[in-house]
Amino acid sequence: MNILGIETSCDETGVAVINDQREVLSHLVLSQIKNHQIFGGVVPEIAARAHLDHIDTLIKAAMDQAGIDFSQLDGVAATCGPGLIGGVMVGMMAGKSIALAHHKPFIAVNHLEAHALTPRLIKDIPFPYLVLLVSGGHTQILVAENVGVYHLWASTRDDAVGECFDKSAKMMGLPYPGGPHLEQLAARCKNLPAAKIKFPFSIPMIHSKEIEFSFSGLKTAVRNAIDAEPQSEESLAQLAASLQSVLSETLAFRAGQAMKKFKAAYPDKQNPALIVCGGVSANQSIRAALDKSAHENSFELSAPPLEYCTDNGAMIAWAGIELLKSGKTAGLNMKARPRWPLAELKDNQS
Ligand code: KG4
Ligand code: ZN
Repeated sequence: MNILGIETSCDETGVAVINDQREVLSHLVLSQIKNHQIFGGVVPEIAARAHLDHIDTLIKAAMDQAGIDFSQLDGVAATCGPGLIGGVMVGMMAGKSIALAHHKPFIAVNHLEAHALTPRLIKDIPFPYLVLLVSGGHTQILVAENVGVYHLWASTRDDAVGECFDKSAKMMGLPYPGGPHLEQLAARCKNLPAAKIKFPFSIPMIHSKEIEFSFSGLKTAVRNAIDAEPQSEESLAQLAASLQSVLSETLAFRAGQAMKKFKAAYPDKQNPALIVCGGVSANQSIRAALDKSAHENSFELSAPPLEYCTDNGAMIAWAGIELLKSGKTAGLNMKARPRWPLAELKDNQS
């Protein structure tokens, strides 16, 4: 089974062809970071136009690399939401057109579902498993119970953790997207305990028994620290290190709560897995904190390789394979959905 996958929901144009033997026949990602950098964030209209400029060429290149023609596809999968509506429409319409012209099933992929299923592209991770999705747009903990069946256990009240990285980095004068730059700056701090004393941050809502996130308070605390006095290069590194440390502790703490809840909900599950995905999972401090927390809770932490973790077409094609195998295809009347919570999946996949 060969599936073409198309991703255009944010600032990456991703196109891939995958078969159900887990072979990635082609996998191309065009990043628009340079188009958005001067604005310090993704500009939706610019993103949509950039997807439009490149989608045809990228699809052709992905098909050429895969060495098959459209007639050899078993389906066409495209992200239909959630995401920036203009971009989603570009990828979705391209996917629908190919499906219509070549009489192939169209598979409407929910971007969050694709992130949650991606680990199964790498190896056979049996359901149910726990997923921590940490990206620029989302901070969620969910249980993947089966294809199409997800339970959202935690989300953020305000900013996503990637947003907290990016906005704090911007305040520190670092380029967009700030996460990786903030990690590099934090690495220059040689004394973390001293940094944490100078810039004391605590886990947001630490006493809450609810598993939920909030990052806007930390962002404000960074703003206040920067406004309080001029910061030298060295103290900025301390600020970055202390912030990164509390963000790592926060994710590990909430993941720990979720792992305990998972064990209570699925007492018979052997070797439970915690999957971390999304761009923020590239952060080494966060990975180390999660690894420790997983170990303490007898979970196995696994993260798809980064190229499949950040937005890409392969994850959409893989979700397409899983959905098609489950008989979940969509009509060509499927609408692009800027908001598409996992709880509403059934509305759009027959
Ligand atoms: O999943 P992703 O590529 O795109 C979406 O947001 O959907 O995630 C991008 C986010 C950005 O906020 C970026 O700053 C963050 O991931 N990120 C990092 C690191 N690498 C990427 N954050 C912290 N440390 C990193 N090394
Ligand atoms: Zn994403």
